Amino acid sequence: EKAGFDHFMLKEIHEQPKAYRDTMGSRISQTGDRVELKEVGMSAEQIRGIRNVHIVACGTAFHAGLIGKSVIEKLARIPVEIDVASEYRYRSPIITSDTLAIVVSQSGETADTLAALREAKRCGARVVAITNVVGSSVAREADDVIVTWAGPEIAVASTKAYTSQLIAFYLFGLHLAQTLGTMEAAEIAQTIAALQALPEQVEAILQEKDAIKRIAEDIAGHDNLFFIGRGLDYAVAMEGSLKLKEISYIHSEAYAAGELKHGTLALIEEGIPVIALATQDALFEKTVSNIKEVKARGAHVLGLANEGDHELEKAVDEVFAIPRTLPLLTPALSVIPLQLLAYYASLARGNDVDKPRNLAKSVTVE
Ligand code: F6R
Repeated sequence: EKAGFDHFMLKEIHEQPKAYRDTMGSRISQTGDRVELKEVGMSAEQIRGIRNVHIVACGTAFHAGLIGKSVIEKLARIPVEIDVASEYRYRSPIITSDTLAIVVSQSGETADTLAALREAKRCGARVVAITNVVGSSVAREADDVIVTWAGPEIAVASTKAYTSQLIAFYLFGLHLAQTLGTMEAAEIAQTIAALQALPEQVEAILQEKDAIKRIAEDIAGHDNLFFIGRGLDYAVAMEGSLKLKEISYIHSEAYAAGELKHGTLALIEEGIPVIALATQDALFEKTVSNIKEVKARGAHVLGLANEGDHELEKAVDEVFAIPRTLPLLTPALSVIPLQLLAYYASLARGNDVDKPRNLAKSVTVE
């Protein structure tokens, strides 16, 4: 059942190229220049009527939503708010019939997410669900359902469900952009081509897993560490940090790289591992200067960069390089080494990787 892998988590990490392909599947035109999301029943007029988008989810699905916010804002130029589902209802969000709510839930059964969906509907919003389970409560109650075809996810720590949620957001963002005319045809085709190249790029990262294993074994001896990044790298840092906490029980924090000097820098001491994501070209120089701030205080820095960015090598102790894609699509690659890092750190600590303490796969209580 684990197909030769030691744990479901490792199996599911390796299933990601297939999950990407299956989630894109027949949703891209033969000609490769258009997205065809037939399951989204909104008319062009309804799409043009969207004034704001609310993304609501928990945990890892929330982290996918953070990327989704950037995708929709960049591609479709619609303002997006995002909340963790357990907070959404209690802040009296301004929901109108011009609001599009997107709920993200692997299981489709998370109690807070379902309650948020119901609140959005009660206030007249249209609800799109991104879920991995056909026929789940969230799928049944939403107006439109974009299924992530990741296949069953058994390990408590979510991996392929998260990355398939990213693919769903890319497709949905393109779908909105096509209707709204916010992207040039050539830009749409270029984005689709980059999406289609992702599965092979993930395979290439998986081939390098021994390098990550070695780094994870070093990290396993520490009790605290930081993930830092800017922009999309910050959102991926949050997911990497959650994954590590969840299964290795090492305390970590994800920090917006530019925020460190506003307080948290006080925690940086000799030898503390810092995992620095620097994949976003537009933010590269600024991130490097933040890396220098932690290096100067003795941190041991692992840099995550795009292939060929040799400049980072000078600023950090070690570099793990990922293949180049469009900046917006990078999270679908940069999270893979972080999943492997969490997996191998958990393994090195002798934990129950697939069933971490205190956690359940599906959270049906508020
Ligand atoms: C972490 C993890 C959780 C879930 C969260 C939401 O690895 O799996 O954070 O993402 O409980 O679950 P779903 O997506 O089923 O609503």
